[in-house]
Amino acid sequence: MSDEREAAIAQVMIDWVEREGPPTDAARVLIVDDDTGMLGRPFKAAGATVSYWRRRAYAGKANPWPVSGEVDLVVLRLPRDWPAFAMQVHAVASRLRPGGRLWVYGGNDEGIKSAPKRLSEVDPGWKAETLWIKQRVRILEALRPEGFAPRAELASWREELTLDLPHVGPTRLVSYPGLFAHGRLDLASALLLDALPLPSPGARVLDLGCGAGALSLGLSRRQPGLKHYLADVDSLALAAASENLPGASFLPGDGWAAVELGARFDLVLSNPPLHKGHAQDLSVLHSLIDQAPMRLVSGGRLVLVTWRATGALARMRERLKRVEVLAEQGGTIVISAMG
Ligand SMILES: C[S@@+](CC[C@H](N)C(=O)[O-])C[C@H]1O[C@@H](n2cnc3c(N)ncnc32)[C@H](O)[C@@H]1O
Repeated sequence: MSDEREAAIAQVMIDWVEREGPPTDAARVLIVDDDTGMLGRPFKAAGATVSYWRRRAYAGKANPWPVSGEVDLVVLRLPRDWPAFAMQVHAVASRLRPGGRLWVYGGNDEGIKSAPKRLSEVDPGWKAETLWIKQRVRILEALRPEGFAPRAELASWREELTLDLPHVGPTRLVSYPGLFAHGRLDLASALLLDALPLPSPGARVLDLGCGAGALSLGLSRRQPGLKHYLADVDSLALAAASENLPGASFLPGDGWAAVELGARFDLVLSNPPLHKGHAQDLSVLHSLIDQAPMRLVSGGRLVLVTWRATGALARMRERLKRVEVLAEQGGTIVISAMG
């Protein structure tokens, strides 16, 4: 469902480019976070040179920051939250020539109508106009202000936070704007860390959908000597996680696709994503449960935290063994099971 929605939104951009053609002063186009893979074609068909910045590793290599090279037009999919949007505007402006065009597109239900105000908060010189509205999707255009000096390096967005991790206490965590629970410890993650039985020293532990690595960090401080594997589709999350757990292994990719097929774990931990882009999507949660038997060693455990309303408990009872509720609070449930 979410992929269909994403494709429908991308199609509005395609229709616009096919109808109007790319602007004549936009020979070099940078397409950002187009998880559909559909957007390059109409620009190329019109003779433009297209490059891509994919932060998320749904299909192949991803990069937390756009690589160098000047462009005339940036096509930016509206991200899910405003701190991420502000950082992305700086990131893409570092590639966009002064006076070059920024197109931002997204659905009314995703907040695209607020984007002009948010853009002007990044710098008052950014003035967005609506190019097109179709099927409750908007395409906005703003020109890079001549005097705008972007914060052009990822390192300038790095932040050090202190999280109060259960059983551990205040702990330093590196993060970036827009990462999950940025600036605090998510209540569900805290519930999991509080309830988690410690694995034996030397155990292989996979943190699937690791974000900045709060779960693995909390566990590593309680039980040193574990072998940590952290997987996430978001390359920026992995950039933060690699600072938080130096020495661990980092696996970019979409759900289990990030993990080698033959690899087996003593413990799989997860506060799994319940969205893909802007849309609700339980596919990672479902495959986390469904594939657990072939990903765990004999006697290994899956411990996840999620909303009870997702139906995860019933699914785990159908597919896994020794299912136990380790903790529950306000609709959030920590569940442990064996393969
Ligand atoms: C609910 S957050 C949990 C983050 C972290 N484990 C914590 O507890 O703070 C879910 C994470 O899953 C990641 N994610 C989203 N879709 C994913 C996918 N298809 N495959 C792997 N990770 C994904 C997100 O980037 C995010 O970091």
